[in-house]
Amino acid sequence: MATPVVTISKLGDHVGSDVTLRGWLYNRRSKGKLHFLIIRDGTGMAQGVVFKKNVSEEMFELCDKLPQEASVIVTGTVKADERAPGGYELGLSEVELVQGAEGYPIALQSGHGPDFLLTHRHLWLRSKRQLAIMRIRHEVIQAIHDFYYEREFIHVDAPIFTPAACEGTTTLFEVDYFEDEKAYLTQSGQLYMEAACMAHGKVYCFGPTFRAEKSKTRRHLTEFWMVEPEVAYADLDDVMQLAEDFVCHIVKRVLERRQAELADLERDLSKLEAIVPPFPRVSYDEAVEILKKAGRDFEWGGDFGAPDETIISEAYDRPVMIHRYPAAVKAFYMKADPEDAKKALCVDVIAPEGVGEIIGGGQRADDLAYLEGKIEEHGLPKESFEWFLDIRRWGSVPHGGFGLGIERTVAWICGIEHVREAIPFPRMLYRIYP
Ligand code: 4AD
Ligand code: MG
Repeated sequence: MATPVVTISKLGDHVGSDVTLRGWLYNRRSKGKLHFLIIRDGTGMAQGVVFKKNVSEEMFELCDKLPQEASVIVTGTVKADERAPGGYELGLSEVELVQGAEGYPIALQSGHGPDFLLTHRHLWLRSKRQLAIMRIRHEVIQAIHDFYYEREFIHVDAPIFTPAACEGTTTLFEVDYFEDEKAYLTQSGQLYMEAACMAHGKVYCFGPTFRAEKSKTRRHLTEFWMVEPEVAYADLDDVMQLAEDFVCHIVKRVLERRQAELADLERDLSKLEAIVPPFPRVSYDEAVEILKKAGRDFEWGGDFGAPDETIISEAYDRPVMIHRYPAAVKAFYMKADPEDAKKALCVDVIAPEGVGEIIGGGQRADDLAYLEGKIEEHGLPKESFEWFLDIRRWGSVPHGGFGLGIERTVAWICGIEHVREAIPFPRMLYRIYP
């Protein structure tokens, strides 16, 4: 009878029996009459031991030459072993080579630079750190869907081709849309979620968004993924509460389910365990005071740059919610603060450890005349926004929401320096390959 084909994650169900694994050779050590093969199959890594006396001569020699990343199908007996990576070891009786991999470009202990690795991203994904990051990204995405599902939000997809800007006209990617028509790749699904929340009450979209940002910082991609909840009858406080619950939920979920991956990344868990409510709520005015006290030359009215955000966030051990920025530095759709019309009812959530803004959002302008004025003030083409204005013509209510950037969130949770490692195939100013 053929042995069952199993995955490494399920080896524990087969202790004492023979199983077959299908995967790739991650690493190999040889010692006299023994070969130790580290096999990976996408669900984990396991060590297979080849004893010279248990296999044919050809098989033993084959194992001596197996290159890193050769694809292999192996069969052996599962043994529990605390010292083995993953906790189980296989006493191998068969090793079948599917394809060799001589000259695989990414050596395990290598000093490859980021440019080389990014050019080989399609292979780099197989490396241990990259495996851990993508699995944490997967967990974050699943946690997001579960969070909104449990709170009765409806998942509504926003379009990617759009007729108009949402986040300023300077970062639009323009595309030809048949005869004489121009379209833009979406910068945010928010405007569509505003329409959808008037239908469903609580909605969210989750998709790729695009910004033609000529920044080469460790926080910027030209294509990134954003999750955007939008809630009817919500005010700014409701939006901040939702953001706090949401971020705590995501971090807790990764801590609960991705310990192995966090360990592979040598992540300082105490930093993540500190992410519990309440998050400090700091007004823009107070944040400016923090900057001034830190000796920074900052004038009231400007937007915060990355160094400013770092100084503000260093005053706290958890994400900081900065609210009520000057309306002049924020988008056209923000509701003005009834206490001070120069300010917008908005919030940015700044993550700790220098990651910067992971969330931007707030309460939306719900008054038709006010919004018409803003569209004009921002020099936006009114005809493209008629549908958006309709939302204020019939049954308008206070509402609000936010957008959370997936890559910055994943980079923060993983403790990695640059967002480019937090997305499978990063798109940046000078990179669109592979
Ligand atoms: O602050 P932003 O621009 O907000 C919006 O787009 C709103 N329309 C969202 C809403 O209210 N529904 O972007 C939201 C988040 C940022 O906080 C950041 O995490 C991420 O999106 N982000 C980027 N991530 C990577 N690369 C870029 N170029 C990013 N620009 C924004
Ligand atoms: Mg923002």
